[in-house]
Amino acid sequence: MSQEFHDLYQDIDHILIAEEQVQQRIADMVAEIEATYAGEEDLLLICVLKGGYIFLSDLSRALKRPHHLDFMGISSYGSGTKTSGAVQIIMDLKQPITGRNVLIIEDIIDSGHTLRYLRQNLLARQPASLKICTLLNKPSRREVDVPVDFIGFDIPDEFVVGYGLDFDELYRNLPFIAVLKPEVFAHLNL
Ligand code: IMP
Ligand code: MG
Repeated sequence: MSQEFHDLYQDIDHILIAEEQVQQRIADMVAEIEATYAGEEDLLLICVLKGGYIFLSDLSRALKRPHHLDFMGISSYGSGTKTSGAVQIIMDLKQPITGRNVLIIEDIIDSGHTLRYLRQNLLARQPASLKICTLLNKPSRREVDVPVDFIGFDIPDEFVVGYGLDFDELYRNLPFIAVLKPEVFAHLNL
């Protein structure tokens, strides 16, 4: 049978974090999160869309303790592989978070602008606690300071895709974290 769709795997230069490494680290993070919230009845995970959807889904299923979920849509203006720093909420929570233990679930922290904005916005709603959990972190790219409570992996300054992360809205479904071939970016003015 002929393959009529574009094969995403052909665009991969190399895999930075393998599927098994991601899953192993998530198991460790789940243990850290369960220890942190031990004795707390309430826990609300807030998934930052779109990039956080796969991480949230694996993390939520690995957690043994009860928790609630909600979603927020954030758009960081800017094209290509960089954010501009201007952040907008495009889909808000379905519930108040006053007095709740809130844990933000993010795919990656790069400049820090998105999370700093989100953190300020959610703190104004007076949760009982607000912590941040990200699968990936690029410390060398930070422009603004954000306190991060749970970090999966620190990675170098490379644009990555897979496991929820996209380039041009593609590659989110890859089960690992990968770097694309340079020619994939070539048609864009970055
Ligand atoms: P920040 O506001 O610069 O911290 O950027 C956060 C957002 O930029 C993330 O939620 C991602 O959507 C996007 N982003 C940053 N770095 C990457 C990357 O390497 N691959 C894919 N998306 C990224
Ligand atoms: Mg994104």
